[in-house]
Amino acid sequence: NVVKASLKKKPDYFAPRTRNFTVKNLPASVRAFVEESVELCRPSDVHVMDGSERENKLIIEKLINDKTIVKLTKYKNSYLALTDPRDVARVESRTFICTTNKSDAIPTPANPSIKGSLGNWMSLQDLEKAVDERFPNCMQGRTMFVIPFSMGPVGGPMSKIGVQVTDSPYVAAAMRIMTRVGEPVIENLQEGADFVKALHSVGRSPNMIPSWPCDPERTIILHKPECNEIISYGSGYGGNSLLGKKCFALRIGSTIAKREGWLAEHMLIVGITSPHGDKKYICAAFPSACGKTNLAMLESALPGYKVECVGDDIAWLKYNAKTKMLHAINPEAGFFGVAPGTNWKTNPNAMASMQENSIFTNVGHTSDGGVWWEGMEKPAEGITITDWLGKPYTGKAGHPAAHPNSRFTSPASQCPIIDPLWEASEGVPISAILFGGRRPEGVPLVYESFDWEHGVLVGAGMRSEATAAAEHRGKEIMHDPFAMRPFFGYNFGHYMSHWLSQQTRHGEIKLPKIFHVNWFRKDADGKFLWPGFGDNIRVLDWILRRVDNDCSIIEATPIGYVPKEGSLNLEGLSPQPDMKKLLSVPKDFWKKEAESIEKYLKEQIDKDVPAQVLNQLQALKERLS
Ligand code: PEP
Ligand code: MN
Ligand code: NA
Repeated sequence: NVVKASLKKKPDYFAPRTRNFTVKNLPASVRAFVEESVELCRPSDVHVMDGSERENKLIIEKLINDKTIVKLTKYKNSYLALTDPRDVARVESRTFICTTNKSDAIPTPANPSIKGSLGNWMSLQDLEKAVDERFPNCMQGRTMFVIPFSMGPVGGPMSKIGVQVTDSPYVAAAMRIMTRVGEPVIENLQEGADFVKALHSVGRSPNMIPSWPCDPERTIILHKPECNEIISYGSGYGGNSLLGKKCFALRIGSTIAKREGWLAEHMLIVGITSPHGDKKYICAAFPSACGKTNLAMLESALPGYKVECVGDDIAWLKYNAKTKMLHAINPEAGFFGVAPGTNWKTNPNAMASMQENSIFTNVGHTSDGGVWWEGMEKPAEGITITDWLGKPYTGKAGHPAAHPNSRFTSPASQCPIIDPLWEASEGVPISAILFGGRRPEGVPLVYESFDWEHGVLVGAGMRSEATAAAEHRGKEIMHDPFAMRPFFGYNFGHYMSHWLSQQTRHGEIKLPKIFHVNWFRKDADGKFLWPGFGDNIRVLDWILRRVDNDCSIIEATPIGYVPKEGSLNLEGLSPQPDMKKLLSVPKDFWKKEAESIEKYLKEQIDKDVPAQVLNQLQALKERLS
């Protein structure tokens, strides 16, 4: 009866101001999920999101009353959220894939003394226990928001629907930016149709702060790919709590994609129009905080080129029978970008995207009601800054204004260079896939794989310096295959086989060419050799000429094709970069690199490494010897 009452009750701050979009109106399967969640979590009332402007105003009002956010008077409809300082990033060590058989979820290392680094597994029994220890009554005194959301344009053939229940109004407001939320989604969800169930609570702990409740000691993020469920407890932060993003679009998404024959990837999508008016789309997979958002919104340093953004973080790629190519959609509707380093020079389009209707998290607050972070243009004379911990910003080393993983959350539609086809429900045809990372040493600015199978090895061998996007420390070079290490929903060995199967499973197919890029190579003094940002168009230009099969611009090396001397357009670039250094493929370095990839694959993935990948590795070693 308590449950019944809470299901009926509309939170005071909504009633009677929003219209009657209640649990009763939901399809039976969604209603059952909401009722079960209420039974378990015992919120005081329930609000089903209709996605309206009016509703958003009321959620924002509540967040202001709760002191979770403050209004940023300098911008229209924009807010600053400051989290509990213990809840600032994804927590990879507490993120689990839960399946009947462990080997479906993660690879089995070659011997028991090796700790697996390709995801964490938990049994379904232990999951039940973890839920029982955390969720009963966890929403007491709080409103449960029911968020029907679509990943991809509502009703599109490549789109998928989810329903998240959460006790966090911050999550409700951010999900509204990051996904398509509300009534149209429910209208589209036919009785009996599949949807992903996503249960989220920020939890409660004895020492939590009222403005940002959370339970850092017991945070846990659980995925059940066998029944398309996500259960997340203890954190209100981004990737842990906006369950459409990493949990659904990548982890659960990749398992659905495996079953259905497509790919769910940690990739940006951009359209590039050449000076001749020829337009092509490419995807690029870089680890978190390695510049996906910057490349996705690039302002060309070469005249005549136009870059347009489809997405900055996630791509769902599926074979299209008409074009016989892989087509990609961006399943998201917003950007959840890393703030530090973003400015009007490095990424003017991101800056323009966040001038209104945005939520900033853990950045500095200026005395004129704006935001500031490391790398942003200096604020005007006389303006002071309060740091993300609420203290006066002094510029003292070790006390940044913004947390290194602070974020902006902005609607994709506000990006000045958003692609006209960014919401095309059949996706855009992909001509090239780029892999990349932060590699100070040895890895050339760009190289092309010899073919798709070799490209799979290039993706599998990806490594990058650790960043602030998760709990890792220091600048250690970590393996991050396909930039998916934190996001695989199933065994990475099976994932490689699934990539390889794209060659044959659809019949005739024109697969994208695969490249590796590295904007981050340094000289002996530790200075970057390549200017990056808008000048990266020079590399994209070469890539697009390769997509057109121009064979006069390549030179074969043991690791792949690199640009032939003089074939990169460096016009107007000053100073001229040292292309010899940027494109060199040092043999000793690469012998060690191949060894470490081999060690990684053999130790971590062992018998699940596909034979083709081992053959490719063998061939690489032979070319290097
Ligand atoms: C996150 O950390 O919350 C997140 C969304 O990850 P990423 O940095 O990969 O976008
Ligand atoms: Mn990401
Ligand atoms: Na993060």
